[in-house]
Amino acid sequence: MNIDSSPLLDVSHLHHAVTTADGPLVILHDISFTINAAETVAITGSSGSGKSTLLGLLAGLDLPTRGEIRLAGQALTALDEDGRAALRRRHVGFVFQNFQLLPHLTALENVMLPLELAGRPAREAARHWLNRVGLSAREQHTPRQLSGGEQQRVAIARAFAGAPALLLADEPTGNLDSATGARIIDLLFDTHADAGTTLVLVTHDDNLASRCQRRLHLDGGHLLAPHAVTATTSTATQVAG
Ligand SMILES: Nc1ncnc2c1ncn2[C@@H]1O[C@H](COP(=O)(O)OP(=O)(O)OP(=O)(O)O)[C@@H](O)[C@H]1O
Ligand SMILES: [Mg+2]
Repeated sequence: MNIDSSPLLDVSHLHHAVTTADGPLVILHDISFTINAAETVAITGSSGSGKSTLLGLLAGLDLPTRGEIRLAGQALTALDEDGRAALRRRHVGFVFQNFQLLPHLTALENVMLPLELAGRPAREAARHWLNRVGLSAREQHTPRQLSGGEQQRVAIARAFAGAPALLLADEPTGNLDSATGARIIDLLFDTHADAGTTLVLVTHDDNLASRCQRRLHLDGGHLLAPHAVTATTSTATQVAG
């Protein structure tokens, strides 16, 4: 975690375009914002508005066409892929929209893998987090033997097991029934309260967005003026997106 007063994430004039058969397609237009350590932020917007693209750039999974992203004081955008991966391993837990579990590994092995790659004790932390997401009985199952919601919970356990300063999660309740979703939302915010984890959550779920202190709303790749929310309790007032 950063120890000075600079933001944990500092995004400046981010612009992202891809080349398609029909020519260049601009996905994100001149986006700037900061997120401080221990904040909780929802990224909302309709399908195709650029939420997953933005989240991937924040994690350094890809480089923006233009603009700068600083994570924990370091310019992600100045690092090569290995440098970005190392910074990500140190600070970031990432929950992909499509989970990205390794198909030949069990649930337990999937959660252990990033810890092992980082040379950290893995088994106990992995078992702890699978238990926290309610999957102790599924440790030895491979992704094919798990439901979509169970796979999503394995992905959440994997992201949390590394005790990241920053959790980036793409629709973490998107595949869950409302009771399981509520349980996962509580887990996210309990971890934020206990460990000061910064949460940046892409979501279509108003229950989840309204629990966050702030909302960043994307509209066709443009960031609308952020609506600040004063979260006086764990059930913050919902703001219009
Ligand atoms: N590599 C790519 N090549 C071409 N178009 C892309 C590429 N990646 C994303 N897009 C387009 O950019 C837009 C934003 O995509 P993105 O996945 O970020 O949307 P989203 O807000 O996460 O949507 P959803 O809510 O459906 O997950 C979409 O129109 C998508 O088709
Ligand atoms: Mg998406």
